[in-house]
Amino acid sequence: MSNKASKSELEDIKAKKGVSRSYANDEITVFWRPELCIHSANCLIGLPGVFDSSERPWINIRGASSADILKTVDTCPSRALLYLKNANTRLRKSRKKSKTPPKFARVQILKDGPAIISGNFILRDPDKKKILLKTDKAAICRCGASKKKPLCDGTHLKIGFKD
Ligand code: SF4
Ligand code: FES
Repeated sequence: MSNKASKSELEDIKAKKGVSRSYANDEITVFWRPELCIHSANCLIGLPGVFDSSERPWINIRGASSADILKTVDTCPSRALLYLKNANTRLRKSRKKSKTPPKFARVQILKDGPAIISGNFILRDPDKKKILLKTDKAAICRCGASKKKPLCDGTHLKIGFKD
């Protein structure tokens, strides 16, 4: 699914000036419509170096290649995140991932948010049943309020969870 902003979405963003936010680098502009965010945390899990709810601004538009940012914006299920490529922008393809599977798991604690697990890991429920994941990363709830435990569903933002 492409989250490229349509004409009507751009008009919506323009009409809600002051509510919608935009973040631009030399190649792309990313828009965020907070009223449509369902806190799925796809963006936080997909690219934590760019989408970090504990930082201000929460989108670091220079934190990764434009191609990788667009790839993550496309995973936003509610279209709260949208993008536009600037005129004449030709994006370099994102670096291909190494085919060698990672040896270790890596856990990164996001300030005031979930713990992101990536690398070589298996997530199991209390009955030792494997929890199937949509991506090769998992955001584990640390605030205790997620309705999708053990996974984060973004509720930490609503309840103002602080470390
Ligand atoms: S991916 Fe999820 S958390 Fe991120 S902006 Fe979209 S709806 Fe909100
Ligand atoms: S840390 Fe995200 S919902 Fe708990």
